[in-house]
Amino acid sequence: MLSKLLSLMCIFPFVLGALALGPSSSIVAKSLTTSSASASTSGASITTGVITIPLSSYPFTPYPTPTLNPRPPVFPATDPLSPPDVSSDMQIVPNFGPAWATAYQKAKNLLSDYTIEEKVNITTGVGWGNGLCVGNIPPNKNFPGLCLEDSPLAVRFAHFATVFPAGIQVASTWNRVLMRARGLALGQEFKGNGVNIALGPMMNMGRIAQGGRNWEGFGADPFLTGESAYETILGLQQGGVQATAKHFINNEQEHFRTEESSNVDDRTQHEIYAHPFLRSVMAGVSSVMCSYNLINDTYACNNDKMLNDILKREYSFQGFVQSDWSATMTTLSAVAGLDMTMPGDITFDSGDSYFGGNLTDYVNDGYISMVRLDDMATRIVAAWYYLHQDENYPATNLNAFNANDEVNNKHANVQADHYKLVRQIGAAGMVLLKNQNGALPLNKPRNLVLIGSDASPGKSGPNEFSHTSGTDGILAMGWGSGTGNFPYLISPLEGIQERARRDGSSVFWDFDDWNTALAGNMAFGQAVALVFTNSDSGEGYITIDGNEGDRKNLTAWHNGDDLVLAVAAQNNNTVVVVNSVGPLIVEPWIEHPNITAVVWAGIQGQEAGNSIADVLYGAYNPSGKLPYTIAKDPADYPAQLITGGSGNEILSIDYTEGLFIDYRHFDQANVTPRFEFGFGLSYTTFSYSDLFVANIQSLDIDQEDLIAGWENGEASPIAEGSSIALWLHEPAFQVTFKVTNTGSVSGTEIPQLYIHHPSSAGEPPSVLKGFTNVEIGPYDTKHISITLSRYDLSIWDVAAQGWRKPDGQISFSVGASSRDFRLWGVIPA
Ligand code: BGC
Repeated sequence: MLSKLLSLMCIFPFVLGALALGPSSSIVAKSLTTSSASASTSGASITTGVITIPLSSYPFTPYPTPTLNPRPPVFPATDPLSPPDVSSDMQIVPNFGPAWATAYQKAKNLLSDYTIEEKVNITTGVGWGNGLCVGNIPPNKNFPGLCLEDSPLAVRFAHFATVFPAGIQVASTWNRVLMRARGLALGQEFKGNGVNIALGPMMNMGRIAQGGRNWEGFGADPFLTGESAYETILGLQQGGVQATAKHFINNEQEHFRTEESSNVDDRTQHEIYAHPFLRSVMAGVSSVMCSYNLINDTYACNNDKMLNDILKREYSFQGFVQSDWSATMTTLSAVAGLDMTMPGDITFDSGDSYFGGNLTDYVNDGYISMVRLDDMATRIVAAWYYLHQDENYPATNLNAFNANDEVNNKHANVQADHYKLVRQIGAAGMVLLKNQNGALPLNKPRNLVLIGSDASPGKSGPNEFSHTSGTDGILAMGWGSGTGNFPYLISPLEGIQERARRDGSSVFWDFDDWNTALAGNMAFGQAVALVFTNSDSGEGYITIDGNEGDRKNLTAWHNGDDLVLAVAAQNNNTVVVVNSVGPLIVEPWIEHPNITAVVWAGIQGQEAGNSIADVLYGAYNPSGKLPYTIAKDPADYPAQLITGGSGNEILSIDYTEGLFIDYRHFDQANVTPRFEFGFGLSYTTFSYSDLFVANIQSLDIDQEDLIAGWENGEASPIAEGSSIALWLHEPAFQVTFKVTNTGSVSGTEIPQLYIHHPSSAGEPPSVLKGFTNVEIGPYDTKHISITLSRYDLSIWDVAAQGWRKPDGQISFSVGASSRDFRLWGVIPA
């Protein structure tokens, strides 16, 4: 015991004080911060304190499972295998409470004769590399164990699995049907490989344009991210696999991700960063992964405020919290809300664990209550029953650590026809940024040239770099754990040649990014010159060309800007195609008169070249919209990558921009972006008309007082499940309008609804709170309906710790981007 104590003190020499614990209490347990933690914003500053929990004895009362009665049609009892259909109108709030309650009962029965050690085994991974998957819970009596496997876009390390477009691509579609379909197809592939828990989706916020893992996520707006996460999780779990909402929370940059404290105020945390996790819980997510970083000087996996108070109390999260890989910092994290440690050992291959024998000792010695250990094991086993994984779930049939293991590696082919969906999402997520003189769609050009390595296949195949740590061809995913093995990868060369053959066009190419003279010569005299460029990033454990995960700048890779300019100098019909993990500065060439079109192709997965051809030739009329702002200058973004730090101390990153990330800042500070959030052109045009807004009668008949209180400006009460209450989330207002396709080709429009709060609210000028996608034939008109909940109109009241309607009139706009409003309305009082 003494040695355990000493080791704890060595790891945490700066124990600063007790946290208010006791999840049975509804009082907010707030982390203490060091005086030096409120550091300056101008750059990196260092604090010296890391709060952890002092050794003591901790009583514990588990949160009850929700007992809300299902109320169809808006609040139906829902099994995760049978989610409600996709809808953007009368929104259904699925009630997973009964399914969880049944699963809890089964879990309690299963665990009833487990010893302390056996329960601890359910919470402790077997250690890095000691199982078939990147994370493994061992078999234990009647429990067969669990396989946890990356990634958010593929079954990582599988060999016959599909590589889907990245999260950022599906977010760019703003299309819930495609989000759900991608989730479902992924879920089926994970299940086919016998993976119990998929380590995705990833939903960090893209606070920093350079953030290395932004492409794994869904862009820089919490609402778009939340809806993308919601649909992805419903789809994944419908496919049978448990989904993991990650990384909770504020892991917004790779540099020093394990040695930085993200210092975030409570309102910003609720309204921006935590919102996608709230939507994940509402989608019935089975697992949440706590992140590597510290939050307000307390490690995320040791953070009572985030795990117990917000996630488990406020959001009523019924599943389990797993650590990111080696993000557990102490055994006492169990008290702060951590349920499972991954991969199990303290550091990879260290052979020890903060859980395992240590957790057993802590329970035996009375520091951690038996009730808490029961709660941990119950949550984990319940999530397994909740997804019906006790009913003929396939055994794991891949080996993440040994591709040549012919015993366990069954090479199951789980791809079905998912490539069709990959191609469709690849195209639907492409954003047309510029199109002059009818340059696009291409119409049987006499000849054309493809310039740039991004148009070509990789020199040694699509998997030539491990963990996709680089590419010398088309960029179709970033690097790190968020990747998969490409079964094949269609390059633009292949996609375009296939089409050129049908058209009888002559195709030329030149993939040398550095020989700009040759590029110019090749472009000269062609009917169209297509120049391809890209920009890559990934997870911080790999550095490429000085990019330590995060991008070191927002400039195109591989000499991209000069290549584009060299081509544009010789050809007055230059079309630029960009495969980028995030925003790039396009000022060097965007206004060049010879650049007639620009296509933001994104991160598209294995069918990239086909998706690009589909859009270039108009087989798919582009409908994607930017999920982030493209600025004119990197300095225009409200938050910058923080570098520096010594590694011996904790780097402070203060989120001083608060609510004003991405377009919210550009609007507030009146900074003109190059392309605003939500922007994207089509080969047709749309007009908007006939806006109406009406109240919707509440279905939550027991909560009339709360609704009346909300209308009078009172905050929602502090309670268990308070932030996911039905009365807050049921549809309360319905906005209807019409959209007409004013052109001669069919197209898809993405109408977007932005709320404008009264000035008393202290909110950004415009805040996205609704969107839908509508396919409209030439000159046709469609009726659209978007509903808003009370939650959508609320702000977080820090003093009252609840959601509140701000004082004054709330207005809104409907339009084609965050700066292209077409209709205006006012929320009825
Ligand atoms: C990443 C997680 C990933 C885990 C397992 C960590 O480094 O941050 O996103 O799921 O590794 O590979």
